[in-house]
Amino acid sequence: MLQTITWTGTAARLLDQTKLPTQTTYVDITDEKQMWDAIKRLVIRGAPAIGVAAAFGVYLGLRHSTADSLKDFDQELDQVCAYLATSRPTAVNLFWALDRQKHVSQETRKQGSRTEEQMVQKIIQRLLAEALTMIDEDNRICRSLGQYGLPLLPTFPDRPTNILTHCNAGGLATVQFGTALAPIYVGAEQGRRFHIYADETRPLLQGSRITAFELQAAGIPATVICDNMAATVMSQGKVDAIIVGTDRVAANGDVANKIGTLNVAILAKYYNLPFYVAAPTSSIDLTLPTGDQIPIEQRDPAEITHALGRQTAPTNINTFNPAFDITPANLVTAIITEHGIALPPFTDSLKKLCDQR
Ligand code: MRU
Repeated sequence: MLQTITWTGTAARLLDQTKLPTQTTYVDITDEKQMWDAIKRLVIRGAPAIGVAAAFGVYLGLRHSTADSLKDFDQELDQVCAYLATSRPTAVNLFWALDRQKHVSQETRKQGSRTEEQMVQKIIQRLLAEALTMIDEDNRICRSLGQYGLPLLPTFPDRPTNILTHCNAGGLATVQFGTALAPIYVGAEQGRRFHIYADETRPLLQGSRITAFELQAAGIPATVICDNMAATVMSQGKVDAIIVGTDRVAANGDVANKIGTLNVAILAKYYNLPFYVAAPTSSIDLTLPTGDQIPIEQRDPAEITHALGRQTAPTNINTFNPAFDITPANLVTAIITEHGIALPPFTDSLKKLCDQR
C-alpha cells in the first residue's frame, strides 16, 4: 500500500494525489507555506492525512526558529498554527493536530532545561517526534477501526459482499490503511470477498481517481459509477451496505463528509440499506452540538465549470461549490471508531468512545 506522507530526514514527502491515477509522483515539502498549499490543493487530502500533514507543517514552520525566549517561540508557534488553520476548514483533524503540537510545546517545557534557548530547541525536536508518532498511530487506529467494522458487513456463501462508498476514505485519505475501506482490507486479509461500487465523486473525482486506483492496486474488485447512478445500483439490489468516511462528526452524530454523501444516505434509507460512517475519534468534535455548526469549505468555481480538461459550463455562470455536506444523525446506522461502534443515540455513545482516546 502506498504511504501518503513520509519523513525523508529533511522534508515531508507527499504522494501527489492531484496526479492520480495516471502518475505516482511525490513532492518534498520543506516549509509551512508549501504544506499549506499542498493541503489547499489536495496534494494531500482526507481528514486523517490532513491532520498528520499539519503536524509536520508546524515542525517545518518552526525548525529554523532562533527564538531565544519561550515567549517569542510561543508567538511563532501561534502564528504558524493560525496560518495552517486557514488551509481547509472542515476536517477537524487539522485543528486537532495543531492543538496537539501546542500541547507538546507546553508539556516539553515542564521537563526543564538550562536556558529558554535550549528549551526552544528541545521543543522543536519534540514537534518532529510527535508528527512521526502520528504516522504510526494513524496506522494502528485505522487497523483497529477495520477490525471493529468488519463484523458489521454481511457475508454470503455464494457471492462477495457489495459495498458502496463515496469519495475516498481509503489508505490514500490517511497515512496508509484507510478508515471506510479499512474493514474491507482487514476482511480481505482474512479471505473475505468484497466488491466495491466507487461513486466517482464530482467535482474532483476522488472516487474514480483515488478509491478505484487504490482498490485496484490492492486487488479488490471495484466498479466506478457516476454519482447519479447510486440510486440505480441500490434499486437493483446490487448494494449490501454503504460505508463512508468523515471530516467531522458533531456531538449528536451529524456527519460532515464529501459533498454527495447526504444523497447517498437518503438513498440508503429509502432502500433500507445500512449506512455506516468510519470515524477515528480524532474526527469527532464534541464541542459542536450539531452539524449546523460545522464550517463547510467553499471551493473554486472552476472545479465546476471545467472538467475533462476543458470548459464545461458557460463563462460567468453562477456556481455553488461546497466541498462537504452534512448527513443528519438519523440517517446514520452506526459510527465505527478505533475504540468500538457507536450506535444511536449518538450523543451518549460517541461521548463514551471519545472518553477512551
Ligand atoms: O476533499 P477531500 O478529498 O479531502 O475529502 C475527503 C473526504 O471527504 C473523506 O471522506 C474524509 O476526509 C474522510 S477520510 C478518511
